[in-house]
Amino acid sequence: MGRIAYVNGRFVRQADAVVGIEDRGYQFADAVYEVWALFDGKLADPEGHFARLERSLSELRIPMPMSRTALTLVLKETVRRNRVSEGLVYLQVSRGEAPRDHAFPGPGTPPAVVVTVSRVDRAASEARAAAGVAVVTTPENRWARCDIKTVGLLPNALAKQQAREAGAVEAWYVDDLGLVTEGASSNAWIVDAEGVLRTRDTQANILRGVTRLSLLDVAREAGLTVEERPFTVDEALAASEAFITGAGTLVLPVVRIDGRSVGSGAPGPVARRLRQLYIQRAKATAV
Ligand code: PDD
Repeated sequence: MGRIAYVNGRFVRQADAVVGIEDRGYQFADAVYEVWALFDGKLADPEGHFARLERSLSELRIPMPMSRTALTLVLKETVRRNRVSEGLVYLQVSRGEAPRDHAFPGPGTPPAVVVTVSRVDRAASEARAAAGVAVVTTPENRWARCDIKTVGLLPNALAKQQAREAGAVEAWYVDDLGLVTEGASSNAWIVDAEGVLRTRDTQANILRGVTRLSLLDVAREAGLTVEERPFTVDEALAASEAFITGAGTLVLPVVRIDGRSVGSGAPGPVARRLRQLYIQRAKATAV
């Protein structure tokens, strides 16, 4: 069975799905997106993703295309039609289609909404988590509003390609002060030499990861000492563990940074436990 997409009010075969050539997402990256992990056909961290979607839209003054309730129904119906149980749901909302002009089109222009669903091989993901992954570092070169989840991801795509060509899974951005900001599509964490779990604070120019936020709760409930405080690449290399979080990666141990081992060079106990606890909680709270 081919994949089914939701496009502006209709469910269509993905192979036949089209959006207009003057869609502002296409011409100006004038669009936001969200990605939910799917467990047993249900959306993980629903509240966090909807809240961030509403915030991203409001920062760009794009109206919510429909109520949260209606949008939830659309997402779930797209999942159902694709018969995917373990996977990812992608939602993109652009400012809509209008004759090309940098300034916004008239207020009557409806936002364009696209939803797609993809399958994830959980066994392969678990194997990857058990082995740990490599990251590379790259200079931070993105705009100053990385807190908005826009589709303007060219720097992220270039960084990810750099990682792939180096045999790594993720690229960590490093700012002018030598501090890690986040990954090209994930947030960055370490367990520092003192055993403190650290991830960058959201005053910095990073995406407020929904997985990051849930994991902060999970870690505190598990009795870990957590600090939202930046770290340098050297601190990450001296850490006992490192890992990344995101809807796609969940909690994924990092065992090499720029070719040098982190800790023992294998996934550590804290990241392994947090991965389990996060998945448990995500499954229990999915809708
Ligand atoms: N990326 N930082 C960046 C730059 C991201 O693109 C993402 C997510 C995250 C983690 O956010 P969350 O925990 O809410 O998924 C952090 C998605 C998965 C993507 O682009 O596919």
